[in-house]
Amino acid sequence: MSNNETQCGCCEINENEKFSLLRQTIEKYEAKESNLIQILHMAQAIFGYLPENVLITIADEMNLSMSRIQGVVSFYSLFSTQPKGKHTIKVCLGTACYVRGGSKIVERIKELLEIDVGETTKDMTFSLEVMRCIGACGLAPAIAIDDTVYKRVNPNKLRQILAQYE
Ligand code: FES
Repeated sequence: MSNNETQCGCCEINENEKFSLLRQTIEKYEAKESNLIQILHMAQAIFGYLPENVLITIADEMNLSMSRIQGVVSFYSLFSTQPKGKHTIKVCLGTACYVRGGSKIVERIKELLEIDVGETTKDMTFSLEVMRCIGACGLAPAIAIDDTVYKRVNPNKLRQILAQYE
């Protein structure tokens, strides 16, 4: 595989094809500033995250300044300028989870994976995020790994939970 190709698991997508798809998306949204958020969403879906060369392309194609694009990207936590791991761990820090030890869970995961919130492990297996309420307040503290929610999480059991994904 050459440097300008990436493997998505089901097929190989050439980097040039991704940029072509991005330009088509911008065109579909008529390069209107009012559609910037949708365009960024689509760009993140195509590339997996929003690297600088993608933001530069969007700025050029839409005739917007980089600071305008970066302002929107940094405002919304769902946009990421860093590549994400294969699995995303979301630790709930909503009120119910927080009072039942949510922050201890965050600290334990940080210790186990040697990363901070918002970071990805070096082997690209896990990304760590925090969020507010994942709908399991009655069984707090809760975490979600991808689409699976773990309830009444005991920090001492985290190693076992994470091991299933390694
Ligand atoms: S506060 Fe954590 S699930 Fe609702």
